[in-house]
Amino acid sequence: MNINSEPKESILFIDDEKSILDVVSEYFLTKGYVVFTANNGLEGIEIITNHKIDCCFTDINMPVMNGIEFAEKLRSIDNTIPIIIITAYPSFNTTLQTLKNGVVDFLVKPAKLTQMEICLTRVLRERKLFIKNILLNKEVKHGKKLKRINAELFNKIEEIETLNKIMSDVAEIRASDDVYQKLVSLSSEITHADNASFYIYSEVLKKPKKIAYFSLQKQDSPLNSSSDKNLNVKDNLITIIHKIFSTQTPVISPNNDDKIVHGSDINYFMAVPLKIVNKIFGVLTVSSSNNIFSKQKLYYLSFIAEKASYVIENMALYEHINQGIITTLKAFVKAIEVRDPYTKEHSNRVTQIAVLLGTALNCSEEEIDILRIAGPLHDIGKIGIRDQILLKKGSLTSKEFAKIKEHPDIGADIIAQLIVWDEHQLIIRHHHERYDGSGYPGKLNKKNIPFLARILSVADAHDAMASDRAYRKSLEKDKIIKIITNCSGSQFDPQVVTAYLELCRINKIVF
Ligand SMILES: [Fe+2]
Repeated sequence: MNINSEPKESILFIDDEKSILDVVSEYFLTKGYVVFTANNGLEGIEIITNHKIDCCFTDINMPVMNGIEFAEKLRSIDNTIPIIIITAYPSFNTTLQTLKNGVVDFLVKPAKLTQMEICLTRVLRERKLFIKNILLNKEVKHGKKLKRINAELFNKIEEIETLNKIMSDVAEIRASDDVYQKLVSLSSEITHADNASFYIYSEVLKKPKKIAYFSLQKQDSPLNSSSDKNLNVKDNLITIIHKIFSTQTPVISPNNDDKIVHGSDINYFMAVPLKIVNKIFGVLTVSSSNNIFSKQKLYYLSFIAEKASYVIENMALYEHINQGIITTLKAFVKAIEVRDPYTKEHSNRVTQIAVLLGTALNCSEEEIDILRIAGPLHDIGKIGIRDQILLKKGSLTSKEFAKIKEHPDIGADIIAQLIVWDEHQLIIRHHHERYDGSGYPGKLNKKNIPFLARILSVADAHDAMASDRAYRKSLEKDKIIKIITNCSGSQFDPQVVTAYLELCRINKIVF
């Protein structure tokens, strides 16, 4: 090895003649190469496996493993290492066979050392270019792959974001919203459609009937215009939608065999079924004059329909359950009122007045709904109180009164067992609290008492005084107004009392 310079490439010489190996070793070592030698192909393979080799010179005729077998084996291990054959008997067949196996040159024995060196320099230079080319190719392939992965990733992220938006928008739909209107506007937004519609099947008309419509344009849907062309398209569309009610299969148009809406103001169209409990309930459609709908958009539209169907189904179930529970609870209240004829219809009247007060006090629609449900049930806790106490004509002992005072808690607990109605429970639990904090069961005061409970408290007191009781007759209007006015700030919220007095003044509250 030339000690003055960095080691050059590593060369492997394979020959069964030791003298040849000695000569080439000495020569190439002095030229600065790292030299390995082997007596046959098998030894050569061992060296290749354990060392980095840049070029091989090999004899052909050798024991154990000859040069041709070596070349074949080496190619299967590393096809970038060039092989130069040195043989005394080059034949056409050998040449052809070895060329297939990565042999890049032939030298005839006895080869001159300088000739070998020239050949080596050339082969190594070509190898460098070859490796560079492979690396470049890999880089290009890698770059293309990266680009493709990036694009796929970007699409995936976009898809996840879209699906998330659909899920959160659909989840925000409330029973009090126009569900179908929200559905069509969301569909148009997600699919970039000009128009979106929702159809149900009209048993009366015996065909699909549009119940919601959304358009990006200010003007009416082209399908609502009465031009001949659009009337044709409209008929065609109704036919497609009608078909979906029986096939329950989504449609994307135009596609290869379906150009039904082609040539109108609506060039592109998609429709998907909306199923509830596996039965078709409606058809959701979108259309556009110049936005082509992809399969991805069809997937989004189907996803919207699927999520919306859960919401509609849940709303229907909830409504059904609620109605069932409310009917049951109202039956309980009726049972109490039947036991005590003096409080007959009391709960309903209290509810009516509470709703009047709530409306006058600018309560939201949701709050009014809560009053409507909780109002009739506010005394439901009395179901657990014995007749001797509930219907007692004389004054109550402190023990009996303590029993009566349990009814708000019992009532709220009954409600809690049946359904999660926090707001409703709060009204029922606190309808006997007093504004000054001396009420029951929580001894809450002022704003600590839920607002709707403060409203119900005034309505309850009013009706108790305005109706006959076991122990007294109903009071006069002026007397009731006077008592409630006097209790403003002590028993009642002054704000509610003000609203109550105004409703009395304009005769909205009947005595
Ligand atoms: Fe009560």
